[in-house]
Amino acid sequence: MFKLLENRMIVPNIHLLTLEAKAVASQVRPGQFVILRAEEDGERIPLSVSDWDRDEGTITVILLNIGTTTGKLASLAAGTEIPTVVGPLGNPTEIEKFGTVLCLGGCYGIGSIFPIARALKEKGNKVITVIEARSSYLFYWEERFREVSDKIIQITRDGTRGYRGHVGRLSEIIQSAGEQIDRIIINGCTFLLKRGSEVSRPFGIKTIVSLNPIMIDGTGMCGVCRLTVGSATKFACVDGPDFDGHQVDWAELLQRRKTYLQEEVIPLRTSRCEEHFRKSKE
Ligand SMILES: Cc1cc2nc3c(=O)[nH]c(=O)nc-3n(C[C@H](O)[C@H](O)[C@H](O)COP(=O)(O)OP(=O)(O)OC[C@H]3O[C@@H](n4cnc5c(N)ncnc54)[C@H](O)[C@@H]3O)c2cc1C
Ligand code: FES
Repeated sequence: MFKLLENRMIVPNIHLLTLEAKAVASQVRPGQFVILRAEEDGERIPLSVSDWDRDEGTITVILLNIGTTTGKLASLAAGTEIPTVVGPLGNPTEIEKFGTVLCLGGCYGIGSIFPIARALKEKGNKVITVIEARSSYLFYWEERFREVSDKIIQITRDGTRGYRGHVGRLSEIIQSAGEQIDRIIINGCTFLLKRGSEVSRPFGIKTIVSLNPIMIDGTGMCGVCRLTVGSATKFACVDGPDFDGHQVDWAELLQRRKTYLQEEVIPLRTSRCEEHFRKSKE
């Protein structure tokens, strides 16, 4: 069993969970993920490891409460023990001295790109961090990013901070950087990954995206995370999750992510109704 030490909503709908997971904490590297279950008969879901403390044996994940299992995890009290934390899984993000690297994160990807930005900075790169959200009240970890970034740029859809709009503004950000950008790394929702890759393509900048297809075992056995990159079949859990965004078959990925939409919506409605019913009886 794995003890949940902390569960805090850091901005609306996004939770920071700190878990005791010694084996993961001792080995995890930037860009890797774990597979968790919230309860004994629950489903397995993948979450990126956004930070860790090797001495304390703890890991931190940033969780977007979007459906049944993320909702269950978000509602757990500190002190609860959860049955499964498997990892670290996937390949670490490639960390080399590239020159100037633009790290783009949105939603839970703001958390998961943090250790990548930190490792790139430690390796001697110039790090430009771009964080994107619907509104400025959804930004988190800005202080932490300041410590590892040479420059921080923000994009908000409502224009409350930084550039107004969405990831399409990346084009102007690249143009106005005043220097060559040697690599772009993007973490977050599939729209951000896809659109970010489209925007960077004409600039010819290598763009690495951390893909998030549906996963079950996370070890290459079930095949559910299959995707096409270039003309090759890949499994995101063992070949990725990082891939060249200019090579990904985005249409296939988006289609496969919708495979279980019905099955995802029905338990969500049921669990939220049960919760509402329980609260109304209390
Ligand atoms: C490598 C990887 C790293 C991820 N890192 C994070 C993270 O750090 N923080 C975070 O909040 N989310 C992360 N995700 C996404 C997260 O796994 C899904 O949001 C979660 O599984 C949704 O489960 P649910 O039951 O709450 O929602 P559901 O209602 O079941 O699904 C909501 C959405 O999540 C997708 N999804 C459902 N089940 C899975 C699954 N087993 N694997 C992947 N996607 C699924 C669905 O396609 C749907 O779009 C990551 C996904 C991958 C593949
Ligand atoms: S999650 Fe099963 S093969 Fe990748």
